[in-house]
Amino acid sequence: MARDVRFESTTPIKFDPNLKPGDVPPAPNVFPWPRDAQGNLKVLSICACGLSAKFPICDGGHKACRDTEEPGHVYRYDPITKAVIDKRAE
Ligand code: FES
Repeated sequence: MARDVRFESTTPIKFDPNLKPGDVPPAPNVFPWPRDAQGNLKVLSICACGLSAKFPICDGGHKACRDTEEPGHVYRYDPITKAVIDKRAE
């Protein structure tokens, strides 16, 4: 099983642990590393399925493909509804 995912960015997304909440990032692709209420760095889950609406951060969108895709097929999903819009043999 696999997924066709469209990427349009030509730059990396960066999480800077030196940025504090409220800091102005130096570029649009730079974000502060998430912190807990005490200011400690939090575990960051990176999307590996390609379906997150908050890519590259996992937002739980992987539940649309987990345990549903058949081996030997490539899937394409609607980016909004997460419904399968195409399925074909690999
Ligand atoms: S791994 Fe992609 S949304 Fe969670």
